[in-house]
Amino acid sequence: VTDAALVVAIDGPSGSGKSSVAKEAARRLGAAYLDTGAMYRAVTWHCLDAGTDLDDADAVAQAVRAAELEISTDPSLERVRIHGTDVTETIRLPFVSEAVSAVATNLDVREEMVRRQRALIAAQPRIVAEGRDITTVVAPDAKTRILLTASEEARLRRRGIQLGEADAAALQRQVIERDAKDSTVSNFTRASDGVITLDSSDLTFEQTVQAVLTLVDEG
Ligand code: DC
Repeated sequence: VTDAALVVAIDGPSGSGKSSVAKEAARRLGAAYLDTGAMYRAVTWHCLDAGTDLDDADAVAQAVRAAELEISTDPSLERVRIHGTDVTETIRLPFVSEAVSAVATNLDVREEMVRRQRALIAAQPRIVAEGRDITTVVAPDAKTRILLTASEEARLRRRGIQLGEADAAALQRQVIERDAKDSTVSNFTRASDGVITLDSSDLTFEQTVQAVLTLVDEG
C-alpha cells in the first residue's frame, strides 16, 4: 500500500513571511517546494521582455500559454528559467513586482498557471506549495491548508526595519496597495472553510515553522 501524497498548501499576503516559512517547512519534511508567485513573476518578465502589451489581455494570455517555464521544486535551490533564460534574480526586481498584478489578474493566465501548478504538485510525493490561491483553487484537497497572516504592523516591521516615519508610511502604502490589487482575484485575507489561519505576528520564524509542522502532523 502506498501512502497518499503529502500536499501542504500555504496562502498569505506579501510580507507574511510565507515563502521563507514554506521553504523551511519543506526542507524539514523532506518535501519539494513550489513558489507559485515566482511563476507569475516569470511569465510577467517574459511578457515585458517580449514587448507584449500588458493591457492586451488576449496577447498576454497567448504569451503565457506558449511560455516554456521551468521552476525548481528543490527547497534548497531557487531557480526559474523561461525559454532557457535564467530569471531567478531578475523576477525579484521592482519593475517586475510593479507589473505582476496586471498579469496575475488576467483570468486566462490564472487558468493556465493553475493547470501547470497542479501538474507540478502531482509530480511530487511530498510538496509544500505557497501562493494566494493554493488552499482554495490549486489544491483545495491538500492534507494541510494554512492561511499565514501577520498584522500590518508586523509585516511592515519585517520589511523595513528602522525606517524613518515617512519611509515607513510610503512602504505601508505600497504593501497595502499591492495586496488590494492581488485580492481582486483571490481572497487570501480571510480563510475559507477548512483552512487554518496561522497568525505569525507575535511568533519568531522558528516558532512559525514549528507551528506549520505541528499542523501537518495533526492533519
Ligand atoms: O508572492 P509573490 O510576491 O512572489 O507574488 C507575486 C505576484 O503574483 C503577486 O502580485 C501575487 C501574485 N500571485 C497570485 O496571484 N497567485 C498566486 N498563487 C501567487 C502569486
